[in-house]
Amino acid sequence: MAQHRIIIDTDPGIDDAMAIFFALNSPEIELIGLTTTFGNGHTDLTTINALRLLEIAGRSDIPVAQGAPQPIASAFEEPGAVVHGDDAQGNLNLPLPTTQAIQQSAAEFIVEQVMNAPREITLVPIGPLTNIAMALQIEPRIAQAVREVVIMGGNALCPGNITPAAEANIFHDVEAADLVFGAEWPVTMVGLDVTQKTIMTAAQLAQFEGSAKATAQHLNGIIPFYLNFTREVNKLDGIFLHDPTTLAYLVAPDAFKTEKLYIRVESESFSRGKTWPASFMNKWSTAWLNRPLVNVCVDIDGARISDLILERLV
Ligand code: BDR
Ligand code: CA
Repeated sequence: MAQHRIIIDTDPGIDDAMAIFFALNSPEIELIGLTTTFGNGHTDLTTINALRLLEIAGRSDIPVAQGAPQPIASAFEEPGAVVHGDDAQGNLNLPLPTTQAIQQSAAEFIVEQVMNAPREITLVPIGPLTNIAMALQIEPRIAQAVREVVIMGGNALCPGNITPAAEANIFHDVEAADLVFGAEWPVTMVGLDVTQKTIMTAAQLAQFEGSAKATAQHLNGIIPFYLNFTREVNKLDGIFLHDPTTLAYLVAPDAFKTEKLYIRVESESFSRGKTWPASFMNKWSTAWLNRPLVNVCVDIDGARISDLILERLV
């Protein structure tokens, strides 16, 4: 039996596609469902993409549950089209999937799966945290019933990416993120502190071209759009592996250095979406009082994780 039974909550998304295929190609992981959120596109689009990705991988047996179209307390206006394309898959404009999402909502699916298998299911959100917060609101007991929550999001000790202060997934639903970091459940934060140290170079990416796998061929079609963005904006001849690094944490946790910190998400100012860490020393500051400790990834052997991801995807 796989070591980890997981649900990925996702907004596919180019690096989301890498993360989903990484999970499907990893014997340590059993993917029991995808739930979809807005972020890299609106939720209708990301649901189509999730279905397409499973079809490409020959895994349409895995259910997809569509999630919320909007954040819990704000408005979603700007999909990440500049990074991921208008179709969020590098403007490949693939044909529509032949399969459909299940009738349950993302939050309902998460609640049912977690409550039916106490302490077995790990949630891996790699988009805004709306569905996870909604699942907690529907059934707070999932906090005790889940095995772990491993989040791609946030920036504890480094600048943001969507604003100087905030990382994109957290920024898109700040109130949901603060709820999720504040719940009494075991949370690991895989944020920009480590995902921006995990880079797949253009030379590594070239290996996708020679692969016979349909999933690698799909990645070979979509990644150039993302690579153009990072070349232009980040002056980097490679891409950041945000979402696949989060999945790789499950497979190789010893490549990550972590610290236990209290996390609050800034909601009031121009720094909206900043994940502010507090160490044991300043845990008495009012805003951080009575918060649970979060396992925050602060450093990584990025080259090792990038090699691992490439090996599983090619
Ligand atoms: C996160 O934002 C999205 O663009 C990526 O898919 C990733 O989940 C990185 O900030
Ligand atoms: Ca994502």
